[in-house]
Amino acid sequence: MCGIVGYVGPRQSQSILLSGLARLEYRGYDSAGIAVIDGDGALDMRKRAGKLGVLREDLKGAPMPDGTTGIGHTRWATHGGPTDLNAHPHLADDDKLAVIHNGIIENFAALKADLLSEGYEFRSETDTEVAAVLLGREYREAGGDLGAAFRATVRQLEGAFTLLAVHQDHPGLVVGARRNSPLVIGLGDGENFLGSDVAAFVEHTRNALAIGQDEIVAITPEGVEVTDFDGNPVQPEPFEVTWDAAAAEKGGWPSFMAKEVSEEPEAVANTLRGRIQDGAVVIPELEGLDDLFAGLSRIVIIACGTAAYAGQVGKYALEQWARVPVDVELAHEFRYREPVIGPDTLIVSISQSGETMDTLMAVKYARERGAKTLSICNTQGATIPRESDAVVYTHAGPEVAVASTKAFVAQITAQYLLALHIGRIRGTVSAVEAAEHVRELEAIPGKIQRVLETEQAHIEQLAHWMADTRSVLFLGRNVGYPIALEGALKLKEISYIHAEGFAAGELKHGPIALVEPGQPVFVLVPSPRHSALLHAKVVSNIQEIQARGARVIVVAEEGDAAVLPFADEVLHIPLAGALFEPLLAVVPLHIFAMGLANARGLDVDQPRNLAKSVTVE
Ligand code: AGP
Ligand code: GLU
Repeated sequence: MCGIVGYVGPRQSQSILLSGLARLEYRGYDSAGIAVIDGDGALDMRKRAGKLGVLREDLKGAPMPDGTTGIGHTRWATHGGPTDLNAHPHLADDDKLAVIHNGIIENFAALKADLLSEGYEFRSETDTEVAAVLLGREYREAGGDLGAAFRATVRQLEGAFTLLAVHQDHPGLVVGARRNSPLVIGLGDGENFLGSDVAAFVEHTRNALAIGQDEIVAITPEGVEVTDFDGNPVQPEPFEVTWDAAAAEKGGWPSFMAKEVSEEPEAVANTLRGRIQDGAVVIPELEGLDDLFAGLSRIVIIACGTAAYAGQVGKYALEQWARVPVDVELAHEFRYREPVIGPDTLIVSISQSGETMDTLMAVKYARERGAKTLSICNTQGATIPRESDAVVYTHAGPEVAVASTKAFVAQITAQYLLALHIGRIRGTVSAVEAAEHVRELEAIPGKIQRVLETEQAHIEQLAHWMADTRSVLFLGRNVGYPIALEGALKLKEISYIHAEGFAAGELKHGPIALVEPGQPVFVLVPSPRHSALLHAKVVSNIQEIQARGARVIVVAEEGDAAVLPFADEVLHIPLAGALFEPLLAVVPLHIFAMGLANARGLDVDQPRNLAKSVTVE
């Protein structure tokens, strides 16, 4: 996956492209490049392997002519290593044409073989360059009609692609197309923008147009034209961006992740906002779906990574309150077996970005087989909600750090609202019980805030002491189990430390062999107020590992004295209902992962090898 930005208008484009790329860098940072049509009508291009900063320095050292039409790209490599040559843009038609791409062109090898046999040459190992060279050939055949050449090109491509192109013989024009990868239009005054998402242009305009699947767009300073791949006009759907530019800035925080963890209380509060009336859950987006919810026989949650762990937490609430059997599946596993789904199955996809290709493909697969699809998503106008029958947005605000934090708590919150909504329709949860759960939810933001205020310093100190640790284990039971998995993923992702999460009861079936003296183990301890039995079991698990020399760090509710004798360190969370503890217990783990990455001097926002949203399968 990668970030794409395009500009046409009266202004010089370089700084607009570079600041757009800075906001999109979370999508990939293997290389960055821009191409502009300069004042003399020539195409200029610069691209460099490495983060955007490398390109910026390069441009500072050796400035490139500027111009009012341009495109920019930040890459997450799929085909060919992260080198200067493989960076985008890729040039063709005697270097008069520049192309950038997000996705994978699946039939690139066959196309490349044809083009090679016709005598065309290639400079990179990417699939993208094939599209560029093909467009160059079609451009010649179309006698210099860029629109016609672009249509002819995209019709030959298979796979996933957002493509943007500029040609020096067409100043003031950027053409783009999308299939299975994102692209949105930003409407300015006498200028227009294209971006992988609205972050690319939100500092210039909040008026946007969504481009549908298999559509082509041409932007000029005066207007925007959208067609299908055959050239038939299409009416794009307008929407207003609710994020402001400042929301996507660091705002004085040392990292986006630090800012986003600090926004966890708000992420929950904003996801609840407008959805509670007189103690009852009201989700206007789900109007008209009562019959579907009443007749459900099964819910399948599909997601990847952290979103899938949020789904594992949500399962408990959906089963307990709505009394529907719930399976949680990794999206990339889901469609490669023959899942049993039908019209009484509800597929709930969870995705921060709304662009994760694995999740998108699973949603499409389920829809084609007659299931209803509901998307829990954080990004307006993204592809997954557009491809779903219904959407409940999490209003966590833009999440930029690769490691997902505030979106996770918002995803759990949205599922709890959904569980209460469905439970009320099915009559499996009473109005009184629902009101009680709603009160718990409403208290969560304040409680997360308390964890942030009271535990942060202690956790950071702990992380500092543990900077050289080589492995950390996380144990949880019940709703604590997915939180253990989330704690381990976060640590792997940003500190590059081996970490594993286990169901605490599973330990004795194998993983306990990993425990040797000094091994740090985080244990999520459920409140004894909800289940003395569960609490006692976890305390026994702690004793088992302590007996083998583990260094035990517990996350336990305030006042849980029974656990103290067995803990080397205690991180406290406020009292909450049983299903609400995960929303609090995850916060120390997020802070810890960040603290450890900082203590190891790593880039917490842009960890190696990763990208924020993975738009390739
Ligand atoms: C979380 O920290 C990860 N970076 C990753 O697992 C992420 O949650 C996953 O790729 C799903 O992304 P999505 O929510 O945008 O679909
Ligand atoms: N497949 C292209 C490449 O490897 C684009 C990858 C992407 O979408 O990030 O360069």
